[in-house]
Amino acid sequence: MDKLRVGIIGLGGRGHLGDGWMNNERSTVVAGAEVAETELAAFRERAGEEVFTTTDYRRLVEREDVDAVAVLAPDFLHEECAVAALEAGKHVFCEKPLAISTAGCDHILRAWKASGKQLMVGFNMRYMNIFRVMKEIIEAGTIGEVKAAWCRHFVGFGGQFYYHDWHAKREGTNSLLLQKGSHDLDMIHWLTGAYTRRVAAFGGLDFYGGERSNDLRCSECPDRRTCTEYVDWPGHERCVWRQEVEVEDNNTVIMELEGGIKASYLQCHFTPDYHRNYTIIGTEGRVENSEPEMKVWVKTRQGEGYKHLADRVYEVKEYQGGHAGGDPRITEDFLDMVLEGKEPVAPPLAGRMSVAAGCAAAESMRSGGGVVLVPEMEW
Ligand SMILES: NC(=O)c1ccc[n+]([C@@H]2O[C@H](COP(=O)([O-])OP(=O)(O)OC[C@H]3O[C@@H](n4cnc5c(N)ncnc54)[C@H](O)[C@@H]3O)[C@@H](O)[C@H]2O)c1
Repeated sequence: MDKLRVGIIGLGGRGHLGDGWMNNERSTVVAGAEVAETELAAFRERAGEEVFTTTDYRRLVEREDVDAVAVLAPDFLHEECAVAALEAGKHVFCEKPLAISTAGCDHILRAWKASGKQLMVGFNMRYMNIFRVMKEIIEAGTIGEVKAAWCRHFVGFGGQFYYHDWHAKREGTNSLLLQKGSHDLDMIHWLTGAYTRRVAAFGGLDFYGGERSNDLRCSECPDRRTCTEYVDWPGHERCVWRQEVEVEDNNTVIMELEGGIKASYLQCHFTPDYHRNYTIIGTEGRVENSEPEMKVWVKTRQGEGYKHLADRVYEVKEYQGGHAGGDPRITEDFLDMVLEGKEPVAPPLAGRMSVAAGCAAAESMRSGGGVVLVPEMEW
């Protein structure tokens, strides 16, 4: 194969990830599927007029000139698109969350095994330098045997990201523990080297949602000049205070991982700042990151005094490109996987396990906060 021929399903915001496979020495984008005509037109401008376009993704999946399919459509479509592409004999790149239910992920993984093709999940955070530095420190044994992992996700702009469109409904994404959360739960799994076995969670809709009409759009709203949540973003401008909003915006999860590692995950969608803070504690010390400062701190039990935050401070530089360089690196890794047989940084099972942990946490917080076991993958 000279160049991998990629077809893309979903050409909205995330559709631009596909640009990495255009004008690439090892790949070309030959087809796009999208239901919005404006996005299809913009895609044709980027990809060239000879590109195949359709509003029905099944027409893309059945094409012989498509070797690989990237599923960049909304979460609730991942399962049907990924399974259709694998069953048609295509390699698949699927954005996170892999699906919006554990059973949906299992469906995809079984289709993947049966296909003999390659599957990658869009865990671009695993390629970001700040987290790779943390991973290397842990793997070097600097903090000893990992025993605890804490993640706080301050989702400033949660309204802009999630409450103006399909994300706000359970049928769109199930829970935001699967949306932003599938990244964080995966990072906890990756940094500790262990998957979640059981969870308990509390959550609520404490800020967004309300009594406004489901039909109200920002552009028509009488309060648009003063509303802090106003956006000028066609297709993503439903009112964040509307009645149908239902996914929780304030979530607290506790987890027990394999090997008895204890973890906690805190996610809030109405903080004024945006960043993720991870702390991993081992028998010899702890490692912590700061995204605003682009630093990683390491403190060992041999270090100076308990009041000092760090023995060592790493200043981390970002790579160029979207999501702190994670986007160009994951698109290249997809080509390495398909064309060179390289193992992906995140195996497909990791995509399933982060969704399974998020689904179990959503179930717990919607049924009184009791312990819920994360089911094993049934092949
Ligand atoms: N890994 C990351 O960092 C990252 C970042 C952003 C988004 N994502 C993921 O990408 C996916 C898309 O997110 P987004 O922000 O682009 O959403 P979006 O709503 O902006 O775009 C989705 C696009 O899919 C289109 N679409 C809807 N139904 C379709 C269908 N049946 N066939 C083809 N296209 C269809 C929509 O018209 C829209 O243009 C989500 O699953 C999200 O989790 C991942």
